[in-house]
Parts: sequence; C-alpha cells; structure tokens
Amino acid sequence: MPLLQDHIAVVTGAGSGIGRAIAAGYAREGARVVVLDINEKAAAETAREIRDAGGKAESFALDVTKREACVAMARQVADKVGPVSILVNNAGIARRNGMLGAAEAVVQDWEDIIAINLTGVFNVTHAFLEPLRGAKGRIVNIGSIQSFLHLRTPSSPAYTASKHGVLGFTRALAAELGKDGVRVNAIGPGFIETPLNEKVRASNPELAKTFIAHTPLGRAGQPADIVGPAVFLASDLSAYVSGTIVMVDGGYRTV
Ligand SMILES: NC(=O)c1ccc[n+]([C@@H]2O[C@H](COP(=O)([O-])OP(=O)(O)OC[C@H]3O[C@@H](n4cnc5c(N)ncnc54)[C@H](O)[C@@H]3O)[C@@H](O)[C@H]2O)c1
Repeated sequence: MPLLQDHIAVVTGAGSGIGRAIAAGYAREGARVVVLDINEKAAAETAREIRDAGGKAESFALDVTKREACVAMARQVADKVGPVSILVNNAGIARRNGMLGAAEAVVQDWEDIIAINLTGVFNVTHAFLEPLRGAKGRIVNIGSIQSFLHLRTPSSPAYTASKHGVLGFTRALAAELGKDGVRVNAIGPGFIETPLNEKVRASNPELAKTFIAHTPLGRAGQPADIVGPAVFLASDLSAYVSGTIVMVDGGYRTV
C-alpha cells in the first residue's frame, strides 16, 4: 500500500522547487495534495502535473504572511477537500545580504524574510491546527543548514534567524502537541538547485563551488533529494520520530 494513502497533505510554496517536488512525491504515495503558493499560476501547474500523472491535487493561491487569509484557507480546504492530516511548511525566500548594507535594504530584508519564512510558518500551522490535532497529524517544516550557523558560506542575519526560528518552533510544537499524537519535524536542506538560487548560481558560480567543495557527497542537491525524507517524516515509517531535524545536505553539516 502507498505510504500516504488516505492522507490529505497541504504543501505551502508548492508552485516551485522543493515544494513542488514534495507535493508530487506525496501524491505518488497516495495522498490527496493541496498545493498552496502565492503564485497562483505556478500552484495550478503543480496540481495539473500531479493530476496528469494520475494523482489527486487541487491548488489555491495563498500568501502565508496574511494571517486572516490562512485562516480562511483552512476553512476552505476543510469544506472543499477534507480534514488535513499532513502540513508541509515550505514557502520561503532567501537573500544573502549582511547587516552592513544600506539601512533601508537591511531592514526590508529582515521584514520580508521573517514575515515569510518564520511568521508564515506560524500562520499556516495555527490555521490548520484543529484538523491536524484531530487526525494525529504530521507537520514537516523546511529549515536549512542555516538552522545552524555556518561561517564558511554567506547568509544573512535575517535568513539565519528565520531558519533557527523554524527549528525552535518545530521543537516547541513537538513538545506541546506530542500528547495529541501530532508529530512535528523539520528538514534541513543543503544547497539544492532550485529557482530560489538560480540567479546566484548564474552570477556567482564561485559560491556554488564553495558549497560543493564542503559537501562530502560532492554535488549540489536536487529537489528530488528532499522527497524521500519528506515522505518518511509524513508517513508511519517515522511513527516515533518527533522534534528533530533531518539534514538533507549531502553531509555538509558534518564537516
Ligand atoms: N534551495 C535551497 O538550496 C534551499 C536550502 C535550504 C532551505 N531551502 C528552503 O526550502 C524552501 C523552498 O525553497 P526552494 O528552493 O524550493 O525555493 P523556490 O523559490 O523554488 O520556491 C519557493 C516557493 O515559495 C513561494 N512563496 C514565496 N513567498 C510566498 C508567500 N509569501 N506565500 C506563499 N508562497 C510563497 C514562491 O512563489 C515559490 O513557489 C524555502 O523555505 C527555502 O528557504 C532551500
């Protein structure tokens, strides 16, 4: 039997990259997938690809920074699709700017990154909490190697703080919701080739080389590399796993 049969899985930021791959992977394992993205067209495309491959999916536009819209979306999904048992908080942005740039830009980075990467995770989780508790659900948050500190590759204080926050939120929620049978875990991707870092890869190939030079497996990751761990954390295979982060980084963090 497929690993996620009879589950309804919500994936945020599923119009692209890692989220799109996870949504498709969950559908292949029998889940009915709710594809959410601020980019309505991209979300619809993911859902269409899943249906074309024989899976079950619908898509809706959602900006995770809009708290009331998240609450309304949870109601809409409950009415139109059914009770959600898996939530993947994947929507995110990255900017590699330090603290010493132009003040306005530094402040803007902080506000945008925290709003999407951290408050967005809170907004969507809070909105879907009731069905997730009812279903003894599973929450998978997308952290990063920046859920820990790495001086060798540049990040921004805002991105690093947001991904540390995602890990802290994951642990606190696992502690609080464990008694309801809800499991909460994170995935820490390393350097994964997606549209998120397309421009940086093109303009700064040295940065990609720096990442890969420090990656024991010696290559960049692909969105498909995240799918197995994401299926594992959403399925009964991980029935006694909660409050942890599974690094999917080619070994980056170990060296
Ligand atoms: N690519 C990497 O190397 C890497 C590494 C570590 C962590 N991550 C994390 O993985 C997640 C996915 O990244 P990706 O590389 O697939 O990026 P991506 O840019 O390919 O996809 C991100 C998706 O999120 C959506 N999104 C952005 N803001 C949103 C909002 N406010 N509301 C809803 N959706 C929104 C975008 O429209 C896009 O479809 C992010 O949280 C990112 O921080 C990525």
